[in-house]
Amino acid sequence: MSRFILASMLTACAIATVSGAGAGKAVYDHSCKGCHGPDGTASPAIEKMMKVQIKNLKSPAVQAMSDADLKKIITAGKGKMHPVRGLSATQVDDVVAYIRTLKK
Ligand code: HEC
Repeated sequence: MSRFILASMLTACAIATVSGAGAGKAVYDHSCKGCHGPDGTASPAIEKMMKVQIKNLKSPAVQAMSDADLKKIITAGKGKMHPVRGLSATQVDDVVAYIRTLKK
């Protein structure tokens, strides 16, 4: 199962050329949603499978991180999260912009 998720992460495909949070949502839906849920709340099944608690992306703990920190997590991974491959620098910027829109 986890192999399946990782494999689907690797097949980052062509995403529209528009940028910003709108484009970031497409990146998110494609590359992050499988683990982090449609709105940043990770599914308990994924947490159980990966044996880790995943912070809600809406939470102050995540929102307090700088853009640079978030980009680093995306491109270099963190703990049990593997680096997300196949994203351009623009796509990484866009997905960070999208994460900011999840904030309550
Ligand atoms: C294969 C599942 C998976 C995918 C896909 C994934 N993540 Fe994660 N992510 C995790 C896990 C698991 C953690 C918790 C890591 C830990 O604490 O060991 C995490 C942690 C994070 C954190 C830090 C939260 C914290 O606990 O400090 C951020 C931010 C994050 N992910 C963003 C993203 C973004 C953005 C994407 C898409 C570009 C993405 N993740 C794709 C599994 C995933």
